[in-house]
Amino acid sequence: MTDVLTLALDVAREAGELLRGHLREPLAIREKRERADIVTLADDASEALIVKRLRAAHPSATILTEESGVHAGSDEERWIVDPLDGTTNFAHGYPLFCVSIAYERAGELIAGVVYAPLMGECFAAERGSGARLGELPLRVSSIERVADAMTCTGFHPAHYERNGKQFAAVSNRAQAVRRDGSAALDLAYVACGRFDGFWEFGLSAWDVAAGTLLIRESGGRVTTVEDESEPSTAGSILATNGRLHDELRSVLLTA
Ligand code: IPD
Ligand code: CA
Ligand code: CA
Repeated sequence: MTDVLTLALDVAREAGELLRGHLREPLAIREKRERADIVTLADDASEALIVKRLRAAHPSATILTEESGVHAGSDEERWIVDPLDGTTNFAHGYPLFCVSIAYERAGELIAGVVYAPLMGECFAAERGSGARLGELPLRVSSIERVADAMTCTGFHPAHYERNGKQFAAVSNRAQAVRRDGSAALDLAYVACGRFDGFWEFGLSAWDVAAGTLLIRESGGRVTTVEDESEPSTAGSILATNGRLHDELRSVLLTA
């Protein structure tokens, strides 16, 4: 295991334990850009801890975070951090939330960690060395057809109009469509074969960076919904076991 992955694992676990501690206190919730887009003091505290720890170990790297933006550093190395993915779940004590930390060198994803403290699960991947859940090597599922698939998506409740058609189209074809509320964890679940496919529109780099590496290192495929571009900059993501990628894309694009 490289120093970078060891650091990401240590920091994600520390931040996850901090989040668990905040669950026992009354949560100070505030709205961000729109109705039901919330952030809590726990998001800020987790982010502060992560930035402090990464800065101390890697003084020259850039750190991109959800809550405080870009902490400037070199162009060569970048950490991409969601200090709490699934804030709404967290605020209700629903256990599907996580810390997501990815490390990029020269624009290439090198390491990624997704840690879900209440589930006690830590997913980790390193470029070229595979992905693991704890000690267990990960592999995507072998489901071939959308008709047999357990899929997942996510969207903000105020954006149903923009997402409803795709949600209905996949619901009419798949065995199941879940909406679990934590994109980073949804991607980790594709990597370990619990979900066969996931899609979402309008995510950011911090939601998808670690999960993308987890899936690629587990044998899956990650693109945009529309084409073969990289997901984080293009506004949509389609992540699957690879086998049903084209079929799921075609269901989404004809919805
Ligand atoms: C959100 C979650 C959710 C997804 C939203 C994200 P946050 O992240 O990943 O599943 O549907 O688009 O913004 O705000 O909880 O970090
Ligand atoms: Ca997020
Ligand atoms: Ca977040």
